[in-house]
Amino acid sequence: MIGRVVVLGGGGRGIGATTARLLAARGDTAVVLDAFDVRDSFYPLADGADRAAVQEISGVETVSVDLRDAAATRTAVTDAVQRHGRIDAVVAFAGAVSGGHPLWETTEETLQQALAFNTLTTWHLARAALPHLLTRPATASPAFVALTSVAGEKGLFGLAPYVVAKHATVGVVHALAADLAGTPVTACGIAPGSTDTTMLRQTAAAYGLSDVTELAQYQHGRRPLQPEDVARVVLFALDAGRVVHGAILPADAGFGRV
Ligand SMILES: NC(=O)c1ccc[n+]([C@@H]2O[C@H](COP(=O)([O-])OP(=O)(O)OC[C@H]3O[C@@H](n4cnc5c(N)ncnc54)[C@H](O)[C@@H]3O)[C@@H](O)[C@H]2O)c1
Repeated sequence: MIGRVVVLGGGGRGIGATTARLLAARGDTAVVLDAFDVRDSFYPLADGADRAAVQEISGVETVSVDLRDAAATRTAVTDAVQRHGRIDAVVAFAGAVSGGHPLWETTEETLQQALAFNTLTTWHLARAALPHLLTRPATASPAFVALTSVAGEKGLFGLAPYVVAKHATVGVVHALAADLAGTPVTACGIAPGSTDTTMLRQTAAAYGLSDVTELAQYQHGRRPLQPEDVARVVLFALDAGRVVHGAILPADAGFGRV
C-alpha cells in the first residue's frame, strides 16, 4: 500500500522523522506536524535545524504546530486535506518525558504537562483527523497509529508523570478502537523500548546518568534500539490493516522480559 498521504504528528525528529524518510522513500507523502517554533518548553522540542533536515527529503513537507493546541491541530490537518485532497493515515509520535522523583514528590503541574505533551497531543490529532479518515474506503487502509511506550503498561521508577500519561495514551487507542469497529478505519498503538533519540537522553538525564546504554540493560542486546528499528514497526502497523486493530504492538527488544 504505497502512494498514501500520511500525517506524522511530532515527526520532526527521532522515530517520527525516520518514519517520514522511510515513507517518502517508498512513494508515500509524509506531512510532518511538529512544534518547531516552541522554545519555552521544559522538554527540548524539534527546532529549525531539525525542520530543515526533514524538509529536504523529497516527499516530506513540514508544518509548525503545537499539538497541545486543539484548534491549531485541526487547522493543520484540514490544510493537509485541502492540499492533497485526502489523508490516508495518521501517526501520533509527539511526546515528552520528565521525572527523576517519586510520585509523592511530583507536582500536579508536572503531571498536567506530561498529559498535555503525550496524551492530549494524541487526542487532538485523533479528533482532528478521524472525520477525514472516515471518508476513506477500506481499500485505502485508513489508519490511526499512536506511539505509546513500555511505560504505557509498566511502572518505571522515577517517571510517574510519563508513566501515567502513556497509560492514558493507551486508553486513547483502546477507546478509538472500540468506536471505530464497523468502520473502514483501524487504530493501534506501538510501544517502543529504549530507543536512541532525544527522549532516551532526556530520560538518562532525569536519572542523573551520562550514558543511555544503562537504560537498555533490560532489553535484548543490552543496547538501545535505533529509530529505524521502531520506524519499521510503524510502517508494518500502517500496512497491516484490521489484523492489528486495537493492539498495542511491542517494539521493545523484550524490555523488562529478558
Ligand atoms: N526513545 C525512546 O526510548 C522511547 C521509548 C518509548 C516510547 N517512545 C515514544 O516515541 C515517540 C517518539 O519519541 P522519540 O523517541 O522519537 O523522541 P523525540 O523527542 O526525538 O521526538 C518527539 C517529537 O515530538 C515532538 N513534540 C513534542 N511535543 C509536541 C507538541 N506539543 N506538538 C508538536 N510536536 C511535539 C518533538 O518536537 C519531537 O520532534 C514519543 O511518543 C515517545 O514517548 C520513545
